[in-house]
Amino acid sequence: MAAPEPTLVDRRPGPAEITADVLAGLSMRPRSLPSKYFYDARGSTLFEAITRQPEYYLTGAEHALLRATLPRIAARVGPQARVVEYGSGSGRKTGLLLRALDDAVAYTPVEISRTALLDSVRALAGDFPTVEMLPVCADFTVLPPLPAPRRAAGRTLFFFPGSTLGNFTGRAAVALLEGMRAAMAPQGMALIGIDLDKDPATIEAAYNDAAGVTAAFTLNLLARLNREIGSDFDLSGFAHRARYARAAQRIETCLVSQRAQRVHVGGQAFDFVRGQAIRVEYSHKYDDAGFAAMASAAGLRVSGAWDAPRRMFGLRLLQPL
Ligand code: TRP
Repeated sequence: MAAPEPTLVDRRPGPAEITADVLAGLSMRPRSLPSKYFYDARGSTLFEAITRQPEYYLTGAEHALLRATLPRIAARVGPQARVVEYGSGSGRKTGLLLRALDDAVAYTPVEISRTALLDSVRALAGDFPTVEMLPVCADFTVLPPLPAPRRAAGRTLFFFPGSTLGNFTGRAAVALLEGMRAAMAPQGMALIGIDLDKDPATIEAAYNDAAGVTAAFTLNLLARLNREIGSDFDLSGFAHRARYARAAQRIETCLVSQRAQRVHVGGQAFDFVRGQAIRVEYSHKYDDAGFAAMASAAGLRVSGAWDAPRRMFGLRLLQPL
């Protein structure tokens, strides 16, 4: 039986907004493109394929860790929680969380990919008929007011798995956490997935899988822009590169121009020299001291910490200071 269609708060960015973001990024030095535009329908599918690559240890480690620790975490959260998830994607981890929680009242995924959002909410609505589905299609850094659940909620729990927080630089990550704290106050919590710093070879392999899925994923960004904003990136003229910058504790993913070339976007021309890089993503890796400092800068404290074996991945529970 089909579950009722959830009403969608839709703030999906349109071509004018995407063009403005791309022009701004290409005008910076070094050039950059916003990583949120990876996630069109094909991008979301390719990302799911990344999570299944043997080198991409993050998802498997996080899944196992969630399975092992969710009963304890759910006890800390208590009954009738409202769950808000940023960048929920396929919602595969959400099912584990909703199953562990005692009578969750509502679920608000905030996801920029409309197809991923609607597919995941449809599936979850079937599995969790008592959890009110309140999806928001938006860039979670510019959050619209969150829809209020019909039933009275206990705590608000922000769920931010997948190491997505690591895709933000220090100051932006603090701002995101601050926004969560403001929306959860005073008795809310946040459950965050973080990738822990480890040997660079393991980390680099995760972003350079042998099957080339990650390369296809980063290049799909250019295909999407060509299709949606009429740019003329030559996909064969750019190559994926992901390197671990040890001092900065982050993977830096770039698209590197393979030759001198000119690209047009929104009526403007951009010249590239051979080897010139467009930065498309950072993936920060954390140590305990650095993460705790970031949380505290956002007015939060680490009130629970669980690590996967060999510190491959970590879950952190945060509460207002
Ligand atoms: N949050 C994921 C990460 O940083 C996203 C991701 C995985 C990603 N592989 C990528 C983003 C490659 C850009 C390029 O691990």
